Amino acid sequence: MTEPRVLVVEVDAATRPGILGFLRRRGYQCVAVASAGAALEALVDSSFSFTLVDLNGNGTDPGELIRHLKARGRNSGPILVIADRLVHSLDAAELAVEAVLSKPVNLGELQHAIDTVVRAPSEALGPEQTGGRLLREIDLWRSPKMLDAHLILREAARVDVTVLVTGETGTGKELIARAIHHFSSRRAGPFVKVNCAAMPRELLESELFGYERGAFTGAHKLKIGKFEAAHRGTIFLDEIGDLHPALQAKLLHVLQDGEFSRIGAKATLSVDVRVLAATNQDLERAVAEGRFREDLYYRLNVVNVFVPPLRERAAEIPILANYFVERYAKLYRRDGFAIAPTVMERLTRHPFPGNVRELENLVKRMIVLDDPFLTRVPLPDAVAGGERLSSSSPPPPEPSLKEIGRRASRAAEREAITRMLERTSWNRVRAARALRISYRALLYKIKEAGLEAERSSARSAL
Ligand SMILES: Nc1ncnc2c1ncn2[C@@H]1O[C@H](COP(=O)(O)OP(=O)(O)O)[C@@H](O)[C@H]1O
Ligand SMILES: [Mg+2]
Repeated sequence: MTEPRVLVVEVDAATRPGILGFLRRRGYQCVAVASAGAALEALVDSSFSFTLVDLNGNGTDPGELIRHLKARGRNSGPILVIADRLVHSLDAAELAVEAVLSKPVNLGELQHAIDTVVRAPSEALGPEQTGGRLLREIDLWRSPKMLDAHLILREAARVDVTVLVTGETGTGKELIARAIHHFSSRRAGPFVKVNCAAMPRELLESELFGYERGAFTGAHKLKIGKFEAAHRGTIFLDEIGDLHPALQAKLLHVLQDGEFSRIGAKATLSVDVRVLAATNQDLERAVAEGRFREDLYYRLNVVNVFVPPLRERAAEIPILANYFVERYAKLYRRDGFAIAPTVMERLTRHPFPGNVRELENLVKRMIVLDDPFLTRVPLPDAVAGGERLSSSSPPPPEPSLKEIGRRASRAAEREAITRMLERTSWNRVRAARALRISYRALLYKIKEAGLEAERSSARSAL
């Protein structure tokens, strides 16, 4: 197995030797680059267990750099940032990086940050080391519905069957897949994750199956695919619903015969890999609509684990929230941070369309902004009728009557605001006064409803 790799960007000359030495002693292969440009180049054709970025390097705009790193897909792995707290403290949440360390870097903290955010047991840490965290997180499944999922996964782990994990985005499907691997006889082998929606078809094909040297222009050396890398272990195919039809056929073949060939190779390879897949799509519908092969669907869906949305297991919300507080307060150095009880109550009533991921990010922001009363981080009150539905996740399939009411009131509000803005020619001070809400509240609502964007597109259409 290859050594896990770390990309180290712009770490200044004074601290670089210490950090590189530390990472190398822990078995990481480090690629250190001095500029943002070099970092982006390094990310073109290799991926890293994580990326460590010093924001005080050569004066690069931090937001810009992070966005560029992220635009390279998942190749950077989680991003850990070293920042001068005084300069960057408030930007951490907006940067949406996994961890922020302040200068001077304390190696113990660095280790803690790595343990906390790097989720690649086979690639970066031994299975025993991540096992502890995995078991703790599984222990947070307290609702009856999650116990069902837990029982099914424990059963499925004992036999080598293919499992399809379904559920909305952010519910914890990946955690389920890791747990299946962990409780299986393959736990000492690799767990390899591939996101089938993250890249174009050709790239994904070479990612999955690898290629021979000279297979196509640009194939300078042999590339081992993820199926080979997962030999004697588990491959986790995330977002399987987005798999290109040509690759669906190829995957079916691997599932049937355990065989495939690298791109450009004559010989077939046989691998011993257990396949787990996940999707937030309705695959049965995709089959009915001809977007997903029926034979592949049945091959994948030998066992189905359904992960219910967080709103259907609201009892877990405070448990999860406290767990995230514990994890991130340490990471962001906010010892003693605690969510106020009234806020916790509001959280349990919030529908969380983005599920556990949304809750996790919310807690992270509250900690970074030191906002235990949830005054600076927006969470529109569910009762007041304005909670966000994140654009990335589909609305729940069957809205409750309450939800229908909320949506209607949101729509009515949006209408009234739009009309008033038109009437005042977008004079927001006057509009706010006429609507009898505060100026700030109006700005917030405009942003929330995406009216600003509408206004500018309307303008450019003129
Ligand atoms: N029981 C849990 N305990 C702690 N964290 C969880 C739990 N379930 C989900 N998470 C966290 O929520 C986020 C989303 O989970 P993930 O498994 O990636 O969801 P999905 O694959 O369904 O989109 C991850 O950061 C994950 O660590
Ligand atoms: Mg996922």
